[in-house]
Formats: sequence, structure tokens, C-alpha cells
Amino acid sequence: MTTTVVVGAQWGDEGKGKVVDVLAPEMDFIVRYHGGSNAGHTVLRNGQEFKFHLLPSGCLRPEKISVIAPGMVLDLPLLLEEIEALESFGVEKPNLRISPKVHLVMPYHKRLDELEEARRGERAVGTTKRGIGPAYADRAARTGIRLSDLFHPDEFREKLAFNLAEKNVLFQHLYGENPMPVEPMVEEYLRMREAIEPYMADTGHLLQQALRENKNILFEGAQGTLLDLEYGTYPYVTSSHTISAAVGLSTGVGLRQIDRIIGVSKAYATRVGGGPFPTELVGGLGDHIRSAGKEYGATTGRPRRCGWLDLVLLRYAARVNDLTSLAITKLDVLRGLEKIQVAVAYRYQGRITQDPPEDLGRLSECEPIYESFPGWSEVPKTEQWEEAPEPIQKYIDFVQREVAITVDILSYSPAPADTLRNSRLKA
Ligand code: IMP
Repeated sequence: MTTTVVVGAQWGDEGKGKVVDVLAPEMDFIVRYHGGSNAGHTVLRNGQEFKFHLLPSGCLRPEKISVIAPGMVLDLPLLLEEIEALESFGVEKPNLRISPKVHLVMPYHKRLDELEEARRGERAVGTTKRGIGPAYADRAARTGIRLSDLFHPDEFREKLAFNLAEKNVLFQHLYGENPMPVEPMVEEYLRMREAIEPYMADTGHLLQQALRENKNILFEGAQGTLLDLEYGTYPYVTSSHTISAAVGLSTGVGLRQIDRIIGVSKAYATRVGGGPFPTELVGGLGDHIRSAGKEYGATTGRPRRCGWLDLVLLRYAARVNDLTSLAITKLDVLRGLEKIQVAVAYRYQGRITQDPPEDLGRLSECEPIYESFPGWSEVPKTEQWEEAPEPIQKYIDFVQREVAITVDILSYSPAPADTLRNSRLKA
């Protein structure tokens, strides 16, 4: 039995979808445990791309059980659309279990996200406008609507009316917009019950039973460490906890039951949305990396900001997630560059430091100190780690030494086959 957590070690979009897909054959369960449709995991299957937003990537493998744990916020119409889209990949009905405890992202959450971002003007977070922040805010305020509420129609109607009474004051008097009526929303959501009911299950109980039966479980993180509500670059963060500890909070699996925590990082760095990014490359090389790496948001299509790998932040990610190993992705994107740089320290408030400031919001005041490496002209040709091109080996060795963690997975194209794996990682 193994339990494996895959988390983003940067600002999301690190290629977690591919890493999960590579590990999936050895797993029995694949679990998503936080975030919502702000995520976008791209998986390549027979040359066809599938973009997951809500479904765990395991849904393309009907022999695995996919789980949506209580920590997620669910846009129900979108989930049903994604389930339908699976059909074109030959999956008629996913092997999916959803916790009735998940909170729903309601239409007013999405509208609030959009209007509030506009109201913030220059201080906008740059959210995906998927209603994530407002849905988690209602969860914390104890006015959220959970999937289970749909099965108590009178209570559901009452809760919705109560919530809309508040939201409509905001729509009308803060944002100068039209109010949203209660009844059509009640009907729209009650209509979806039939389609979702077959998937509902006590997922906490299910996972504990799986552990007792020595099953392998993979927890699929979304976004990345630096977008964590507490440990990220607040306020330029998402509204869920993206670090590994969220597994304990959100799935019913205990902290002592986790075996491996794999942090995924690109060989460079990207960020989408606002907020500090010390190693950002504006123009020239940044544009080159964006186009070579197809760095456009899977959810919003926005161009991603690109820059060099930042080992100060990778060390931080290793610490706050308690990483047991690293996966480095998109090595192919840097191919052809003469020189590759990596940030190893910062100059901050007149001194040199190996650690980021306690308040990551101050990252904008940090000036990176770089080490340079020769680039590579080719990617690995065999599955042997030792036969990888020398400049790649040098680069990866340096990352391992600096972060003091083994790199167990190297990925150099979106295709599952183009991956090197250290044998010690096998389940
Ligand atoms: P939200 O999660 O939509 O509220 O957005 C908050 C911040 O997280 C913004 O900077 C988004 O661009 C970023 N974000 C949210 N989800 C993802 C993701 O899956 N990949 C990368 N960035 C994300």
C-alpha cells in the first residue's frame, strides 16, 4: 500500500496532470481534494488532449476509482459537462465518487468574482473568475450550499433565498447590476440531482476502507504552493490550501497515513495572474519560453508570465509541503538556449539570503542572484537516467543538491512515454 500526494511546487501549471497520469497505472484511487474549476490539467491520450477542470485525471481510466473529496468547490453544470465530454474518449460513465459535503460554486459566486475583480481595478488578483474565492468565503461564513442540500429541496430553497437576499444587495447597490431571482436557480439545480446522485458517496469512509485493504491512493493537488491561501504570495493567491497538509484537512485521511509527497516544478517558472515573481523575464527570453512551452492558461487562455527557475522558492516549497521528492517537467522547452539561469539566493533589504521573506508579499523587493548553466540541444533518448544529455544531468544534479531532495521524475514532452523515472519511486 502507498499513498502519494502530488503537489505543485510553484504557481500552478507545473505539469501535475502528466505526472499524475504517469503514476496512475499503479494506483487504485485518484483523489482531488481542493480547488475547483480554476484548475486545468491537460492529459494527452492517443494524440488527443483532454483538459480536466473538475474531474480527477483518473477518470480517463475507468478501472481506477476517482474521488472528489469534501475540500473541493464544485461548479455542478460544468462537472456534468465534463462527464459528458468523457464519452468522446470512450468513457461512458466514469468510476467516480463525490462527497455530498462538497460546497457548490453557485452562479452568484461566479458573477461576484467577476464584478469584484473589476472593482479592485489595479489591485485585482487576476483570478480565473470561476467563483472560487466567493464560494470558499461563503463556506467559511457558514452560508455555503453543499451538494447534500440539493436533496432537501425546501431547505435548499430557503438557504438560496437567504443568500440571494444578501448577494442581491451587493449586485444592485455596490456593483449597480440587476438582482438574480431565486426560483429559476432552485429549479435549475434541482433538475441536476438525478444526474449527480449515482456518484455520491461517503468518500472519507471509502478511503479509510481502501487503506485497510492496502490499496494505492494518489492525491492530485491543484494550483501550486505559492498560491496557497496561507503560505503563498497573499493576497495574490487562490482561496484554498494548495500545500500537502490540505490532504489531511480535506479527505478524511490522516497525516500519518501519507507515504510520499512529490513536488512538481517546471525546469523554469511561470505564473498567471497578478503578484510578485522575482525571476520573471519580461520580453525577449520570456516571450521565447512562452511560445516554446505553449504557456497559455488551460482555464482562461491567458498568456502566462515566464521566468527562470527559482531555487529559493523551490526550497521553500520543499519545506512547507514536506516533500519527499521532486518531479521536474518541460525540460524540452529550454532546448536550444545557450545559457540557462537559476536563482540561488536573493538580495533583500541590503543582505543576501537563501530564504524568502516570511511575508511572501515582500518578494517584489527581492532581487535574485543567479547561477548560469550551459543549455542543452537534445532531450533524453533512452529510459536510462545515466544516459540523459550531460547538461541536463548537471542541471538536475544542481537542483537536487540545492534543494536537498531527490528528483525522481523528469519529463521532456507532454507524451506519457517521454518521462524518466527513478526506480526507487515505483509503488
Ligand atoms: P482563483 O483561484 O480563480 O481565485 O485565482 C487566484 C489566483 O490563482 C490567480 O492568480 C489565478 O491565476 C491563480 N490560479 C488559480 N488556479 C490556477 C491554476 O490552476 N493554475 C495557475 N494559476 C491558477
